[in-house]
Amino acid sequence: MSTAIFYDRHGGVDVLRVGDEPVPAPGEGELVVANRVVGVNPADVKKLAGEFGGSDELPQVLGFEAAGVVESVGEGVEGFAAGDEVVWSGTGAQRERSVVKATKARVKPANVPFEQAAVLPVAASAAFSALIQAGVGDKDVVLVHGASGGVGSAAVQIAKALGARVVGTASERNHDYVQGLGATPVAYGTGLVDAVRALPGLADVTAVVDTVGSPETVAQTVELLGADGLERDGKPRAVTLVESQESLAAGITSKVSQKGALAEVLALAEAGLLSSEISARFPLAEAARAVEQVAGGHVRGKVVLEV
Ligand SMILES: NC(=O)c1ccc[n+]([C@@H]2O[C@H](COP(=O)([O-])OP(=O)(O)OC[C@H]3O[C@@H](n4cnc5c(N)ncnc54)[C@H](OP(=O)(O)O)[C@@H]3O)[C@@H](O)[C@H]2O)c1
Repeated sequence: MSTAIFYDRHGGVDVLRVGDEPVPAPGEGELVVANRVVGVNPADVKKLAGEFGGSDELPQVLGFEAAGVVESVGEGVEGFAAGDEVVWSGTGAQRERSVVKATKARVKPANVPFEQAAVLPVAASAAFSALIQAGVGDKDVVLVHGASGGVGSAAVQIAKALGARVVGTASERNHDYVQGLGATPVAYGTGLVDAVRALPGLADVTAVVDTVGSPETVAQTVELLGADGLERDGKPRAVTLVESQESLAAGITSKVSQKGALAEVLALAEAGLLSSEISARFPLAEAARAVEQVAGGHVRGKVVLEV
């Protein structure tokens, strides 16, 4: 048997339970991966709460990303063999073994540890997509709302790798961390716009990545870019990870996943240009504690499960 974290109804972390399931076999085009590390994301909290809608068949298993070792390979799969170290995205990652579409898996670079690879498919890929969508380059000053979180900390590093200068918002306790990533930290909340405008050489923000998506960050984005600065040369200059009525009404573009994003962020990690602080590690059986921590909304870097 193989261990998994199930839920039988939507709700909070109290509905998660540890259970067993038969060891799976791969179908055509599929791999069975023995997961080593599973990334935990706000999407897990939202899915558990039933916010993603759809006709979830229950019981379900959370988890949208993991890294591990290929245990078996289904018919028609090319480029993977048992024993390969891989990272993958999909659903149902909070388990000892997952059935994974081979098209959703990538070989893990040898110099990228499992826990670093495991957290790339959701947060870092989304950050990469947002920055590419905005056409960020070496002439830009990018403001990242929520620079200490999973998406934001990746966005800072990727924007730097694209040649941009970066301002990152975070609570005071995370300012050293954000500075260490390569951004100039500013406190979020009232006074953010004035604080950014007072930064020598960085006052003219040219692009914004919003990982927070509150009415406040939406208003600040529009104020800093100006209503006519939300698009330039056919590219959206403000991209949000959290679409809302306010972001849509303000004309802020929602992130669209870019093809090949995972391969790109893996390459950045392999080159030593992208890494995540793993601020907490929990055993798989304590997934509820990990999801609860992420639900708090103030994770620095990433939280992972160790299988
Ligand atoms: N559309 C997509 O494909 C996609 C992909 C990934 C994520 N997302 C979404 O993007 C959001 C962020 O994800 P994440 O993984 O980065 O979350 P996270 O790791 O929990 O990060 C949240 C960040 O927000 C900051 N923050 C909290 N309250 C704030 C406030 N009032 N004002 C400004 N910043 C505040 C926190 O900073 P401090 O800790 O310093 O206070 C923290 O750094 C989530 O809603 C997630 O679902 C969407």
